[in-house]
Amino acid sequence: MNKSTHVNSSKLHVAVIMDGNGRWAAARGLPRTAGHVRGADAVRRVVEAAPGLGIGTLTLYAFSADNWRRPADEVRTLLRLFARHLRSETPTLAERGVRLTIIGRRDRLPAALIDAIAGAERRTADGGALDLRIAIDYSARDAIVRAATRLAAGEHDRAAFARRLAEACGGAPPAPDVDLVIRTGGEQRLSDFLLWESAYAELYFTPRAWPDFDRHDLAAAVADFHRRERRFGGVQAVAVAETSA
Ligand code: FPP
Repeated sequence: MNKSTHVNSSKLHVAVIMDGNGRWAAARGLPRTAGHVRGADAVRRVVEAAPGLGIGTLTLYAFSADNWRRPADEVRTLLRLFARHLRSETPTLAERGVRLTIIGRRDRLPAALIDAIAGAERRTADGGALDLRIAIDYSARDAIVRAATRLAAGEHDRAAFARRLAEACGGAPPAPDVDLVIRTGGEQRLSDFLLWESAYAELYFTPRAWPDFDRHDLAAAVADFHRRERRFGGVQAVAVAETSA
């Protein structure tokens, strides 16, 4: 099976594990939080570039359920940065037709961030140019467990499970399967991110630290993706055409 037979053939779902902020800062003698602040600039750059690269859905991993283990100061700074960024970026996102949704748990987030999320989601709800999803207090495995407990009797198919999974992640409709996972910062792992949705995703790892990541890096990752042959467990597209003729 080639890309043209896949349901998401026209627009890509790209998911990014934004890693390397702390090391970027340490290498410059700065506090880790300075790396996160510069990381927010990189978020702005990729969101701006994504629609022009054929990306229809962009999911960014901002804060995992395991990130609560970080020092309290860093956690507080990160959560404040998210709220500030959401507030300041919402008008631009709305203007550009970017629809923002947050995936993950909300019940452990501070009230100011919950407010900022609600405002940003409401004001960008009509956007059609890009579906931007930011994962905050997110764990794929926890979401899968929550979805499993919500499955009704008789709901045995994947589509029903995907709907329950979306409900378990905040309630937005299910996104298409992930086509490409990008991880910056040199590590090569998935860290409990979109495990169900990435079943057939292509993986792209780059040593570039997230604060340095720009539209050229995103374009390079997408170009690399287009050179991959995706078979979804089948055989090469040419062989399929020959045998079915
Ligand atoms: C991982 O780098 C990064 C994070 C846990 C935070 C991601 C947050 C941002 C990019 C800030 C802005 C985001 C939004 C949505 C406005 P790390 O700290 O684990 O880096 P290290 O591996 O070098 O320590």
